[in-house]
Amino acid sequence: MRIYFDHNATTPVAPAVAEAMAQAAAEDFGNPSSVHHFGQRAKARLDEARSEVATLINAEPSEVVFTSGGTEADNLAVRGVAEALEPTGRRHLVASAIEHEAVLVTIKALARRGWKTTLLPVDSTGIVRPEALDATLTDATALVSVMHANNEIGTIQPIADLARMAHARGALFHTDAVQSVAKIPVDVRALGVDLLSLSAHKFNGPKGAGALWIKRGTRLIAHTTGGKHERSRRAGTENVPAIVGLGVAARLAVSKLEADAVRLAQLRDLLEEGVLSRVRGTAVNGTRESRVPNTTNISFDGVEAESLLIALDLEGIAVSTGSACSSGTLEPSHVLRAMGLPSHRTQNSIRLSLGAGSTAEQVEYLLTRLPPVVAKLRSLTRMAV
Ligand SMILES: Cc1ncc(COP(=O)(O)O)c(C=O)c1O
Repeated sequence: MRIYFDHNATTPVAPAVAEAMAQAAAEDFGNPSSVHHFGQRAKARLDEARSEVATLINAEPSEVVFTSGGTEADNLAVRGVAEALEPTGRRHLVASAIEHEAVLVTIKALARRGWKTTLLPVDSTGIVRPEALDATLTDATALVSVMHANNEIGTIQPIADLARMAHARGALFHTDAVQSVAKIPVDVRALGVDLLSLSAHKFNGPKGAGALWIKRGTRLIAHTTGGKHERSRRAGTENVPAIVGLGVAARLAVSKLEADAVRLAQLRDLLEEGVLSRVRGTAVNGTRESRVPNTTNISFDGVEAESLLIALDLEGIAVSTGSACSSGTLEPSHVLRAMGLPSHRTQNSIRLSLGAGSTAEQVEYLLTRLPPVVAKLRSLTRMAV
């Protein structure tokens, strides 16, 4: 038995997506910038995908810029706006402390080049409080970047409120919606943002394809140059098969989002309640109210997350930890740390994220295997709880 509970890391490609990609690779090989039949045929596939992505987020197709994924979309948003607004004297960038590295590291790189940067704190439930943003904004703030849903704990931020506050001070607003798109309704107009990142492989599309939605009229400097592709916002011949895959994944998401959300929330709650009731010394990290339906993050007292991950993998169950293992030391999750959790929880937590193929049988299998695995690990470290 192999069970995949790591859908926030990536998802399997849907069969209809794989089929459309194979067909595009074989038949739509023209360069979309070529004027002849072959080029125009490939361009038509891009246009179709652009419309499908736009429909998913209630945008205009012309506002969608294809990228190589979420990381590039985040980079383009943050660097592109920072550079575009630099001549206006707005040299202050704000991001939440729990952003994905694609935003955090980019902000840090700009800080080294002279931009003033502020990381917004989150409360103990993993939510950015609007008061925190209010206290940070100045007339020099160029951009505020706060993710829609967090990848580790799934919490959903009050984006519409935060964007309104940023706009009131003349700043632009970007949201990394990589973990919310296709899990909950994402409507760029209702969110009131200026830029939004998404990534195909988080919703049964291919890796290496994503998009940055840029509201019409938003100033942004491209960081790849050398061609007029994507309305001069991202030079380089488009990866047609991957973008076709992104489009099909977006279309599928539109058709099943509502039903999937209900089903996954039920499964996730079953899993969570099961763990809390069958394994002592466990706690859910982050709010259980405002979060995406497929994610839970649970800490296990007296159990190192990496050991639990490996032990579960031996049982055929794939989960993940927020901690990164670098040069032999375990880095506690920056998300859990920002929430103020004590070190025994930041290092003892695993994320379980469900998706299209998840079933009640799989959840039950996890619930039968987990208690003895945890008991064994605790006995090894002599930390009876
Ligand atoms: C919130 C968030 N942003 C950005 C990314 C990066 O996306 P990609 O893997 O498409 O570069 C991820 C992927 O883990 C993510 O979870």
